[in-house]
Amino acid sequence: MTIQLVTDQTKAKAEATRVASPLAVRGMTVSYGQTPAIFSVDMTVRAGAMTAIVGPNGAGKSTLLKAALQVIKPLAGTVTVFGQPLERMRDRIAYVPQRASVDWDFPTRVIDVVLMGMYRQLGLLGRVRAKHRAQAMEALVRVGMTDFATRQIGQLSGGQQQRVFLARALAQHADVYVLDEPFAGVDAATEKAIIAVLKELRDTGRTVLAVHHDLATVPDYFDDVVLLNTQVIAAGPVETTFTEDNLQAAYGGRLTTARVDPESIAG
Ligand SMILES: Nc1ncnc2c1ncn2[C@@H]1O[C@H](COP(=O)(O)OP(=O)(O)OP(=O)(O)O)[C@@H](O)[C@H]1O
Ligand SMILES: [Mg+2]
Repeated sequence: MTIQLVTDQTKAKAEATRVASPLAVRGMTVSYGQTPAIFSVDMTVRAGAMTAIVGPNGAGKSTLLKAALQVIKPLAGTVTVFGQPLERMRDRIAYVPQRASVDWDFPTRVIDVVLMGMYRQLGLLGRVRAKHRAQAMEALVRVGMTDFATRQIGQLSGGQQQRVFLARALAQHADVYVLDEPFAGVDAATEKAIIAVLKELRDTGRTVLAVHHDLATVPDYFDDVVLLNTQVIAAGPVETTFTEDNLQAAYGGRLTTARVDPESIAG
């Protein structure tokens, strides 16, 4: 009787956490061929926090994001956004894919790339009005790219493109920002600019989920961490989860060249 009650309470608590979560993934398995890229992944992203997904190359980090946003079809698994099916909540989520995956061989101006982020507000046949252009420019201001508004996106450097993609996500006015390695290949100034924008989003109640490669900056940048290697190795607050043991488990023997500053990690 008592045990049943406790079980029910635990279940109810888990359900409440899931409903409150801006992005909750359950039992997600994705396979491109014989072996699964991710297997039975559960992830409950905490609202108003910045969460890093960390793991070695090929661990399935990008796959997890794509499956969570239904860019690719999983073998199994469900996704809820604030407790609702993703289909109904799509406009609440902004997604910035891994940079190398976007190929701009057709001419598109920077301002138009940002306006693309606003197509849900515009509607399919909606006209771009002055107010939309003003909003797009506002987003470019936040990432320091106003001078490039009328340049072709393909003519920008990688780091500049990354700023523009962040501006597009900002223009969407989403609740959840999902980014796949937003700092890959950007210089220190751009990294600083991007992290400032992401922290500002977090501090105004938005939720940020990002794949991140630089272990040294995890404690400084993020509140929570998910250590992934096909399966979830550990997940939770950085202070208790981002430990040497968990990192070794996630990276296997491959952590020898990566440096983790023990000073910055408690637990
Ligand atoms: N379209 C695809 N077709 C076949 N295999 C794929 C495809 N995309 C990814 N994979 C494989 O799935 C596994 C996970 O890939 P994924 O891109 O999710 O890893 P990742 O953790 O994001 O790696 P990285 O740190 O290099 O970005 C890898 O073994 C990869 O080779
Ligand atoms: Mg990836």
